[in-house]
Amino acid sequence: MEVIILPTQQKAAHLVAQIFAKEMKAHPKLVLGLATGRTMEPVYSLLVDLHRQAGLDFSQCSTFNLDEYIGIPADHPCSYRHYMNELLFNQVNITKANTHLPDGMATDLAAECIRYEGAIAQAGGIDLQLVGIGSDGHIGFNEPSSSLRSRTREKALTPATLEQNAPMFGGDPANVPRRAITMGVGTILDSRRCLMLVTGKSKASILAKAVEGPITAMVTATALQLHPRCQVIVDEEAASELKEIDYHRWVFANEPEWAEFQYLR
Ligand code: F6R
Repeated sequence: MEVIILPTQQKAAHLVAQIFAKEMKAHPKLVLGLATGRTMEPVYSLLVDLHRQAGLDFSQCSTFNLDEYIGIPADHPCSYRHYMNELLFNQVNITKANTHLPDGMATDLAAECIRYEGAIAQAGGIDLQLVGIGSDGHIGFNEPSSSLRSRTREKALTPATLEQNAPMFGGDPANVPRRAITMGVGTILDSRRCLMLVTGKSKASILAKAVEGPITAMVTATALQLHPRCQVIVDEEAASELKEIDYHRWVFANEPEWAEFQYLR
């Protein structure tokens, strides 16, 4: 795992968008794993800009989102399908049929989870997975005590997650759906490359636990320490409680992979 610290939220999002663009140019049939949430909004905005201004081509890509609420239809303004359509899919040249989210309205939710895992496998697995972190340390909706080998399944959301996501539902946690379908921790760990984007002061304490704390199912983001190629991209505010901050800065300044991105420091 590498932790890359950049001065601002915008620069952190910029690095993520640039890595996406580089991978997509090198591998036009890239299979992307995508996340929703407020942290990702600037990333999708930058990818739309790259498509419009630099011709970034989504035509052969396919995408699999981490999660979807159970019980709200795809066209509901708070569904993750709606979020993805609005912020990315409707604004770039992706083939909609190649964009996948779990179906939170499926009559047989267990079968839907199995189908989703099968669709990822059929696509050849996820090449580049984007994740955020919840205030309770979740990745996807893998809430505390989730198995670190879990696969796509239904999960009940914690009170902390209902609180975190309440602003999208009129500010009241009681309005947030109680359950979701989420890729498992094991599903995320199977991705070939993983980027975790974390920004803002409110995430500083959980980020420190996730990257410098012991691996524990109580903070499922700690499982990313076991990922073969996970890079954690953060802004200064989110980095403010890291103990090894000088070491993380040294890695970004010295690893050859990051040489072309030194302009972001
Ligand atoms: C969203 C997801 C979640 C979010 C996390 C952070 O698809 O899987 O794990 O990444 O809850 O959300 P924000 O960015 O809104 O703080």
